[in-house]
Amino acid sequence: MDSIREVFEQLGLELGATQPGCCDGAWIEESTGGVVESVDPSTGDVLGTVTLGGEDDYERVVSRSVSAFESWRMLPAPARGEVIRQLGDELRRFKEPLGRLVSIEMGKIYQEGLGEVQEAIDIADFAVGLSRQLYGLSMHSERPHHRMYEQWHPLGPVGVITAFNFPVAVWAWNAMIAGVCGDTTVWKPSEITPLVSVAVQKICDRVLERNDQPGVMTLVNGLGDTIGQRMVDDRRLPLISATGSCRMGRIVGPGVAARGGRTLLELGGNNAMIVMDDADLDLALRGVLFGAAGTAGQRCTTTRRLFLQSGIHDGFLERLVKAYGQVKIGSPLEAETLMGPLVNQQAVDSYLKAMELIKQQGGEVLCGGGRPSGFDRGFYVEPTIVRASADLPMIQQETFAPILYVMAFEGLDQAIGWHNDVPQGLSSAIFTSNVRSAEIFLSHRGSDCGIANVNLGTSGAEIGGAFGGEKDTGGGREAGSDSWKQYMRRQTNTINWGVDLPLAQGIQFG
Ligand code: UN1
Repeated sequence: MDSIREVFEQLGLELGATQPGCCDGAWIEESTGGVVESVDPSTGDVLGTVTLGGEDDYERVVSRSVSAFESWRMLPAPARGEVIRQLGDELRRFKEPLGRLVSIEMGKIYQEGLGEVQEAIDIADFAVGLSRQLYGLSMHSERPHHRMYEQWHPLGPVGVITAFNFPVAVWAWNAMIAGVCGDTTVWKPSEITPLVSVAVQKICDRVLERNDQPGVMTLVNGLGDTIGQRMVDDRRLPLISATGSCRMGRIVGPGVAARGGRTLLELGGNNAMIVMDDADLDLALRGVLFGAAGTAGQRCTTTRRLFLQSGIHDGFLERLVKAYGQVKIGSPLEAETLMGPLVNQQAVDSYLKAMELIKQQGGEVLCGGGRPSGFDRGFYVEPTIVRASADLPMIQQETFAPILYVMAFEGLDQAIGWHNDVPQGLSSAIFTSNVRSAEIFLSHRGSDCGIANVNLGTSGAEIGGAFGGEKDTGGGREAGSDSWKQYMRRQTNTINWGVDLPLAQGIQFG
């Protein structure tokens, strides 16, 4: 508890106290949406309480975000980049305590907590460079003495809805990119990780205040049904970027579309890995372990399905089961732990329910499948491997827990068929030493996912690429590459520098 207290102090939080959860540049001390408890998933102990926003608090935050946008957008993009650079530096300074708080509140191991903060730092660095590269194209006009080009303007206040599993990084993907694009952000974090959001907002506020730009990044802790729904319906937020379940996406997508707004959806995954007979099996084994058991199976990129070619199936599976037996389960803060707890009791219940259904449907549990012995508290489960047939109904669903379904296949076409035969389309991987197999997997008749990897796992993507997926995953792309375009509005400009007014398409009028 003492070390937790220290982490809280370093981040300006008080263990066991009530923290305000809404901030429009200044913290709203008396908000009206009730409170939420933050619970340490490794013990079940309450870490503190955070206040939730009600209607008035929401209004206050969004109005501030609207007015901050008016001035923020007038700052030249590279000057906005300079503020984001300072924010990246501030995150660097707080990497250790913030990484530790992520572990404490969300339950991922400390190494992954650090990695998550690094991901936020990386996207800040990326955004700084981007602030000088918000390029538009120029075109040749078909009309004489005309010039055509496009430019990208700031879009407005952006609503950012994030999930519990990446409580810093996914906010950062959005806030940093939106920031250099000239947008302000209104962040609604998951109600499961409110303390991380408060700590991040405090870091943000210091930098924004120093630059005389309060309100550029704001925070509303609140429930999905109230604050989330309010954001969906709010025409002042031209873009809602939402990360979470497919169920949530089905509410956010149509809701925002109905008012003519944009969404950027990054929803559930059901990611698979194909291991061919010719694969480097040592690499594949490490890839599966991190992909399937890492973060206790709570990444949207977690490996959930494993297709093993028949020649290596038995031997590889034997090694994998053995490796699973050695995965050290325990407190996320202990250095030797590889797998921490699930995030809460509800997650444990849904894991146990899934195991029941898997068995009913004919899945054979090869290891794990329940709660580990030796833990009298905390939300721990065992990393689990299930031998399944490709038509096991549970395979179609994303259970946010460390359950890996393993299937044997004969040829690559069969594996690709199974691979694509799920509603989700986020991440995918093949392990092979054969260039043809690799290229088929990456081709248009291969993986149908937004991310497709060769000889590395499905999770742990770098920020430089566009991140997201197809089908029920929602189609959005966050983070690197040209994802920034979604945070800006494109304007096509045509300028006539001649003395005549020719019409396009050769139309003669009058
Ligand atoms: C998520 O789980 O929502 O690729 C994001 C990864 C991380 C991000 C995961 N960089 O696993």
